[in-house]
Amino acid sequence: MASEPTVAELRELVAEFRPNAGHVLPSLNKVQETYGYISRRAIEVVARQLNTTPALIFGAVSYYSDFRTTPPPETEIAWCSGPACRLKGGDRIREAIQHTLQLPLNGHSDDHEYGFHLGQCNGTCTEAPQVWVNGKVVGNLTVAKAIELARDVKADS
Ligand code: FES
Repeated sequence: MASEPTVAELRELVAEFRPNAGHVLPSLNKVQETYGYISRRAIEVVARQLNTTPALIFGAVSYYSDFRTTPPPETEIAWCSGPACRLKGGDRIREAIQHTLQLPLNGHSDDHEYGFHLGQCNGTCTEAPQVWVNGKVVGNLTVAKAIELARDVKADS
């Protein structure tokens, strides 16, 4: 699991952003891209940098489902909930993976080795139904392939 960045590291990371300049989302995106999540400490640093309140920054973090406030698991399977994937059996893929991993959607194993996450269409619908494993598309899934994938992820942890 990634360690939490320090205040100094976070300050340096968001130093380019300014108050009243539409920088809330760009600064949050930068924090998440760099550390994989947005910690409470990061929310406070961003708020100070943008001369606003942590409550306002937390509001933005909680509004957008792509932001996370806890570190990502070592291996993350993201399930595409978009229309093309669902039309091609995505719900059965989700059920198969959840059953195999014994996890709820947006849950992770106790040791944080693997997790299962809700994703949105990324435009690669020709490979529907699909999931992403640490961001890499695994497409044209069948239920059997999804179970095999989930078993492999579980066995590797
Ligand atoms: S609907 Fe799943 S990739 Fe577009």
